Amino acid sequence: MSGKIAVIGSNMVDLITYMDRMPEAGETLEAPNFQIGHGGKGANQAIAAARLGAKVVMVTKVGDDLFADNTIKNFENHGIDTRFVKKVAGKSSGVAPIFVDPTGENRILIIKGANADLCPQDIDEAAEELKTCSLILLQLEVSLETIYYAIEFGAKHGIKTILNPAPADPRLDIERIRKVTFFTPNESELALLTGLPVETQEDVEKAARTLIQKGIETVVVTMGSRGALLITAETSELIPSSKVKAVDTTGAGDAFIGSFARFYSTSNDVSASLKTAALYAADSITKRGTQTSYATPAEFEEFRKSLG
Ligand code: RIB
Ligand code: NA
Repeated sequence: MSGKIAVIGSNMVDLITYMDRMPEAGETLEAPNFQIGHGGKGANQAIAAARLGAKVVMVTKVGDDLFADNTIKNFENHGIDTRFVKKVAGKSSGVAPIFVDPTGENRILIIKGANADLCPQDIDEAAEELKTCSLILLQLEVSLETIYYAIEFGAKHGIKTILNPAPADPRLDIERIRKVTFFTPNESELALLTGLPVETQEDVEKAARTLIQKGIETVVVTMGSRGALLITAETSELIPSSKVKAVDTTGAGDAFIGSFARFYSTSNDVSASLKTAALYAADSITKRGTQTSYATPAEFEEFRKSLG
């Protein structure tokens, strides 16, 4: 494995309001704090992997507004290959108004903007570069056709793929993603896609197994504070989560996937990489912001020491 990671996915600018409560209809309410930063599930996963030292190639689209150049610069500052980041004339960049309450819980609106224009042809144009990567990361903030095409591309060229089916989309066709290597829904995404209950751990395992039966190699169900469940045809393992004080959970799922990609592409050990990724994600929720809360290797070392 080259260890190089490709992300074919979204970028957004996160407009994060820290609020005491949501205003009622017709009400104006003052919120104590605001932070603007780079986000978007694809970009977040790319930045987490890059911050941990991975070589990363980003395939995405920005608009032609004041966010576009900043977004490209942010990738460059992290050493990410931006040759396949394209500008779309007449479109806005992706933006995400986000509201975080005092418990660290968030509410997110996304406006895809130029991300909606990412298409199979963009994958073809990056094909030679993608073939040198060992992992392709995918999420659901670009069109499903692009996702299906990327999974086929990975399968055809022997490149492992990870699909994080967020945000939840009931139109996702499991038949068309069965060649994906890793599928990483959370509990509600799993329930939506299988139509099965996910109350208990047994429920979750049962629902995930229906996806394995359809051909998906490995399913990782993230269950928030209950940890994650790693399921293959032969095995099932609970990946524990660590208890931390939540300040801002925005982008924790992306920290998990992006760091997993980095750890896995260097170790080839799924279970160990998931355990370390769970710690990396836990650290991110103790800090405000999305990408701003992703640790460098030195910061991550500090966090791990602090857990004892
Ligand atoms: O997963 C968190 C991300 O979701 C945020 O950065 C926001 O941009 C939305 O894409
Ligand atoms: Na955070």
